[in-house]
Amino acid sequence: MKLLYEGKAKQLFECENKDEIYVHYKNSATAFNGEKKEEFDFKGSFNNNITSLIFEYLEREGVETHFIKKINETDQLCKHVKIIPLEVIVRNIVAGSMAKKYGLEEGTKLIKPVFELSYKNDELNDPLINDDHAVALGIVTEEELNIIKKQALIINNLLQKLYLKSNLILVDFKIEFGKTKSGKVILADEISPDTCRLWDVNTNEKLDKDRFRRDLGSVMEAYEEVLRRLKNAKS
Ligand code: TMP
Ligand code: ASP
Repeated sequence: MKLLYEGKAKQLFECENKDEIYVHYKNSATAFNGEKKEEFDFKGSFNNNITSLIFEYLEREGVETHFIKKINETDQLCKHVKIIPLEVIVRNIVAGSMAKKYGLEEGTKLIKPVFELSYKNDELNDPLINDDHAVALGIVTEEELNIIKKQALIINNLLQKLYLKSNLILVDFKIEFGKTKSGKVILADEISPDTCRLWDVNTNEKLDKDRFRRDLGSVMEAYEEVLRRLKNAKS
């Protein structure tokens, strides 16, 4: 199969049907724009399984996504979309870059969810931008941005519900959207412990990529635990 694109955590391969794409989840973990890098056995499998389970749930709840089906432990079949170069972030609790930027304590509850946009550009280190930047720079139209914002907040509510059933608090997360050939904006990329901050509801223990970013150890044990809890919550 022809490799179309390789990112830090996934490879995208061409399919015979050009409206579809074959997504392979790699075992690499990176942080800080690729400065920190490590291979973890089974990471690809955990993230593929977690993303598949979450995208199936979102589809059941009426959110259109690029996900078609899980093919095997590390691979998925997805709709071929053009990724919009925005990291769409929703925060429920202060953590990470928000805590640092505004001198806030991690764990501070936000009065309302915060919607943030970063311009996806590795050379610029994904700079934070506002809604006007996104439209004025031609990254999205006003209408597309409205769809993205509305969807992001719906997805936040649905994910909070799903994770809470797994005794996990959704602190914040990053999603990406893509455009289909017909111009429809739909949820794409992945939703996994790489792209969400997840804290245990009782102990606040971190069960996400912060374990890798902050050298907390037991990184894959945390991913495995998230998958186990999501599977249990479903049944
Ligand atoms: P931040 O606090 O570092 O800005 O991250 C906010 C959320 O976005 C957090 O859940 C981690 C996720 N994220 C990514 O998925 N990819 C990234 O490149 C970054 C910087 C954050
Ligand atoms: N900066 C991303 C993160 O920390 C990953 C990366 O860019 O390598 O999640």
